[in-house]
Amino acid sequence: MMLDILWRLLRPVLFSLDAETAHEQTMRLIPLVRPLLGLLGRRPDPSLARTVAGLRWAGPVGLAAGLDKDGVAIRAWASLGFGAVEVGTVTAQPQPGNPRPRLFRLVPERALINRMGFNNRGAAALADRMRALREAGAWPEIPVGANIGKSKVVPNEEAVADYLASMDLLAGLPDYFTVNVSSPNTPGLRALQEREPLRRLLGEVVGRAAGRPVLLKIAPDLEPEALAEAVDVAATSGCAGVIATNTTLSRPGATGRLDEAGGLSGEPLRPLALARIRQAVAAASGRLPIIGAGGISSAADAQAVLEAGAAATQLYSGLIFGGPGLPGRIHAEMAAAR
Ligand code: FNR
Repeated sequence: MMLDILWRLLRPVLFSLDAETAHEQTMRLIPLVRPLLGLLGRRPDPSLARTVAGLRWAGPVGLAAGLDKDGVAIRAWASLGFGAVEVGTVTAQPQPGNPRPRLFRLVPERALINRMGFNNRGAAALADRMRALREAGAWPEIPVGANIGKSKVVPNEEAVADYLASMDLLAGLPDYFTVNVSSPNTPGLRALQEREPLRRLLGEVVGRAAGRPVLLKIAPDLEPEALAEAVDVAATSGCAGVIATNTTLSRPGATGRLDEAGGLSGEPLRPLALARIRQAVAAASGRLPIIGAGGISSAADAQAVLEAGAAATQLYSGLIFGGPGLPGRIHAEMAAAR
């Protein structure tokens, strides 16, 4: 409630700024106001807790990767009432990402287009943050995953070693790992979703994860056959789950900013993502859970993803338009509907 009032005051200010500047300011603010968030935020009702890929989620709505790339506000996401949180994508080498501007708001469509290109301070910096939280006994009660990608300067032939370098830096720290082969903003990355490169990559990553769950994150632009193949490789490589989906290069619906390259997320992605989630659930046929993402901005949206057979959900863009109270609102509505 209080969070929603604060958001009504803050949103016009943030929306008057360039999208990435607003994001940077918010990421600076959030750790500072975390104790307040702890008081105002709502934890999910215990009836919503569930085990997903071997981990106890406090509720079915988690934070998707990309919002907190460097894990600077890990504790705050738990305070906002998410069921789990995924930070990253980090890469083995720190990198600046693409030139700005690279993030665009499509306000009427409640959508974003981004071509960030894995801007991040590197897996070692994330490891330092995570280690400090662990050592201080401040690790959240919800699962915290690290999403890893390939450093831009590393060619695909050396991708496996690059992913493993991130895993070694992060060893023993995150509760789970996500292998990101689905960002549209690193040239060639998505070729790693093909059967043979994917089998090699996942086999090595699962081996290096020392028993921690490994999730695979896939793109909505995979055709149904390729998607089924990727899910099958995940299942037979020992992955604990699949996240469907990342952003799309397609432009479903009437979308503004058609001249901007990058991945589309938010409400226009929802029908495509839901179709892919259904396909992923069918391809998994109970062998591993699907975590659904793409355009979720209400309890009804999240419910539809769960009814499509997903074990849990993640969101990012919904938070930009719905504000920090969104995960708490969705969970409260879901608990009330039970
Ligand atoms: C993302 N997403 C993303 N995913 C990922 O695996 N690694 C990343 O670094 C990022 N970065 C990123 C930046 C921005 C600005 C956006 C909007 C999105 C994708 C995100 O996690 C999610 O899969 C999609 O955005 C679909 O969900 P929403 O945003 O429609 O709820």
